[in-house]
Order: sequence, then structure tokens, then C-alpha cells
Amino acid sequence: MGHERWTAVDSYTTSSLVGRDRALDETLQASADAGLPAIAVSPPQGKLLHLLARSIGASCILELGTLGGYSTIWLARALAPGGHLITLEANSDYADLAIANIERAGLSAVVELRLGRALDTLAELHVEDRGPFDLVFIDADKQSTPDYFAWALEHSHPGTLIIADNVIRDGAVIDADSDDPAVEGARRLHELLQSESRVSATTIQTVGLKGYDGFTLALVNGG
Ligand SMILES: C[S@@+](CC[C@H](N)C(=O)[O-])C[C@H]1O[C@@H](n2cnc3c(N)ncnc32)[C@H](O)[C@@H]1O
Repeated sequence: MGHERWTAVDSYTTSSLVGRDRALDETLQASADAGLPAIAVSPPQGKLLHLLARSIGASCILELGTLGGYSTIWLARALAPGGHLITLEANSDYADLAIANIERAGLSAVVELRLGRALDTLAELHVEDRGPFDLVFIDADKQSTPDYFAWALEHSHPGTLIIADNVIRDGAVIDADSDDPAVEGARRLHELLQSESRVSATTIQTVGLKGYDGFTLALVNGG
């Protein structure tokens, strides 16, 4: 049992529960046509993000790592009335495509894309006093995930959900000797969470059409 089976099961659950959606399908197609890497969340993962955002009534969402806007669209569709989503992307070609995809999905009015390295755009958001955010989805350069998490925590409120994607990395997260920056990032995130009393967190391993990976879900305590 391996990738072929995981992909088939993702197809099954997608057709059973997620369904087809024109704007999302077109976003993936336009991204593939433009040669973007196929590293967007899978349809079931996109729907999970959507359901999580809806379940907390999120009206202020921050996403790090837009790519073609696939997860952005899932999340933006979950916004409570009057809500707003800020998404951060470093690559201007990806950002241009995402803006077109978000517009086609009819979400331009509620999505703001900030172009630039996330550590820089986060600093701008801080100066602008943006937030606190109800949900933060961390899905950019993986070595910086712990830094993004720390920023998100400082711009959160009790009840904020912080989700960090790709933290299992084919199981390499348990390899203490790894010099892969993405693995080091995932390990630093877990170390940070161990000593962080302000959140309650767990990490879930996943398999599917995107392979073997996983995500961390952290809830800011209190409230
Ligand atoms: C995994 S993809 C995001 C996928 C997207 N969230 C989705 O599921 O549809 C990661 C994205 O982060 C962007 N990225 C990488 N380093 C970044 C940085 N330092 N600041 C902002 N974005 C960055 C990449 O260009 C890429 O588009």
C-alpha cells in the first residue's frame, strides 16, 4: 500500500464529500498550465481548512504562502460576513496568477495579497497594527515555520487557530541529525510548542495524493 492507493482514496473521498467546484478546478488548472509546482493542499485538506475556519466563525484570516491561491479560496469562502483574509507570497509570478484565480472565484473584495518575503510583509502588518487573527495558516518556506508561528502567536487572541502544514516530511521530522532546513523547521516548531504554555497543540500525520506528511494544529488558550 502506498502512494497509488492514497491517491485513489483521496479521489474517492473528494468525489464523495468535497465535490467539484469550477473556481477551484480552474485555479488548479491555471496553476498547472503556468508551470507552478503541484504543492497546493489537496482538495480534502482544502476543505478541512474551510471547515475549521467556519467552525470558529473566522472573520480575520492570515495565510503565509499563496502559490496559485487554491487554499486561499477555500479559506476565503469560509469567512464570516464582513471578514477579510490576508495572504502572503514571495514570488511575483505566483502572486499574479493567484490574483487572477481569486478574482475568478469572486473573492477579490475580501482577499488582500501582499507580495514579498513573509518576514518582511509580517513586519509591515505589525506596523499597520493588523490582527489579531482568528486563524493563521502557515504554508510558506518551511524552515521559517517556527518564526511564523511565533509571530502568529503574538498576533492572536484566545481561541485563535494556528495551522502549520508539511511538518512530518515523509517521517523525517523524527530525524534529529537531519540537515534539511525544512525538517529542522518542523523540529524547531515542535520544540517551541513543547515549552509554549499559551497554546494547546497536536500534530496529525496524513497520507494522500500529496504523499506522506502532516500538519500541526495549535489553539491559543484562554478566553
Ligand atoms: C506550499 S506553497 C503554498 C500552497 C498554498 N498554500 C496552497 O495550498 O494552495 C508555498 C508558497 O510559499 C511561497 N514562499 C516561499 N518562501 C516564501 C517567503 N519567504 N515568503 C512568502 N512566501 C514564500 C512559495 O513561493 C510558494 O508559493
